[in-house]
Amino acid sequence: MALWGGRFSQAADTRFKQFNDSLRFDYRLAEQDIVGSVGWSRALVSVGILSVDEQARLEQALHSLLAEVQADPEQILQSDAEDIHSWVEGKLIASVGDLGKKLHTGRSRNDQVATDLKLWCKAQGQVLLNSIHQLQQALVAAARVHQSAVLPGYTHLQRAQPVTFSHWALAYVEMLERDFSRLQDALARLNLSPLGCGALAGTAYAIDREVLALDLGFAGATRNSLDSVSDRDHVVELMNCASLSMVHLSRFAEDLIFFNTGEAGFVELSDKVTSGSSLMPQKKNPDALELIRGKAGRVVGAQMGMMMTLKALPLAYNKDMQEDKEGLFDALDSWHDCLDMACLVLEDIKVNQARTLAAAQGGYANATELADYLVAKGIPFREAHHIVGEAVVFAIQVAKPLEELSLSEFQQFSPVVAADVYPILSLESTLAKRVAKGGVAPEQIDSALVYMEQHLAQRNAK
Ligand code: ARG
Repeated sequence: MALWGGRFSQAADTRFKQFNDSLRFDYRLAEQDIVGSVGWSRALVSVGILSVDEQARLEQALHSLLAEVQADPEQILQSDAEDIHSWVEGKLIASVGDLGKKLHTGRSRNDQVATDLKLWCKAQGQVLLNSIHQLQQALVAAARVHQSAVLPGYTHLQRAQPVTFSHWALAYVEMLERDFSRLQDALARLNLSPLGCGALAGTAYAIDREVLALDLGFAGATRNSLDSVSDRDHVVELMNCASLSMVHLSRFAEDLIFFNTGEAGFVELSDKVTSGSSLMPQKKNPDALELIRGKAGRVVGAQMGMMMTLKALPLAYNKDMQEDKEGLFDALDSWHDCLDMACLVLEDIKVNQARTLAAAQGGYANATELADYLVAKGIPFREAHHIVGEAVVFAIQVAKPLEELSLSEFQQFSPVVAADVYPILSLESTLAKRVAKGGVAPEQIDSALVYMEQHLAQRNAK
């Protein structure tokens, strides 16, 4: 039976019921709904609605229900209850009889669902923080293992300057560090309890909402009842966190898809995260990475959808808001899966150091070094840039890398070039010069690695 039957003389059309019911997705809030209900039952004692003994019976019944749900969450789906709140209340009444009917005193599903969802966000947020952390650790570990591998660095997908595999991996660790801190911020902001705000105007029982909030593990209670039941900022913020992080993961995937092409051949992905073609026997496709890239669109789309749902909604609760859950669940599940899959991809990745070295040495990636060399000889940088441009055109014509041009060939472009140019053009020198903070010099990378290893270990210890 629906929770609101009294006012109605006709049953709902089954098609409407199907359209309206949310149990098939909000069953995931079962645990939070039960925990919230225990908290609410305690609050009802403080205002004399429940005796201590009644509350104890309710709490015990709710705890057994929780154990039942934890053992088999999918059992909920067998029910035709409207939503998880009706389901929990129905089960409670079935177990303790009329006493169960007292629980909803002074509470509305509006503050109830807002509370349940925030409790769920808090729990899921911790899971996601951990997944981000795991991926950072996997990246740092890969950076250590392949610390000696150089890699061509690109801008515009044109070979630009040599970098290293570790430097590349650490770039993603930085992005994930921001994702981590963004998620922490969002979790701190949502950590206020809406319970006791009633339908919209506040509960008519003089409950101490601060005590109730702390009892449920929140940092405090929200300040305005109208805002509290209609606020879904936290849903949007978490989806924002997911979207931006998925953009990072998508770029990570795209880089590796490219590194894994036959043309680049910089890395080889393990059989564990690739698949074959039904037609072409030679193929080994980077499906895990392509799906990460693909799911980024889905997560960003879910976030847009939520913003559009909330736009222009009048205060306070409107049924439109029931649409918050599927998008949020899907976005956070996808994000979680992609973080996990990225770890798996890194687990057995092989770096082909011969290929990365050859590529880093080619493509005139040391042209900037030649310009800097001319600058050191007193030529203004703008002029040096032009001279090197001409030298590169010549080198391309004679099909040689810069370091293989003879002195006399160099001197056609500038008389200041001497034999000391050759060591400057070497890959080692190119890397070694970049000692300023954040640069690609081996000692910089080593200290960046040490920093991250310590930082992540400290977080682990907490
Ligand atoms: N199933 C609803 C949701 O997810 C619960 C809140 C219903 N409140 C109401 N006034 N109809 O949003």
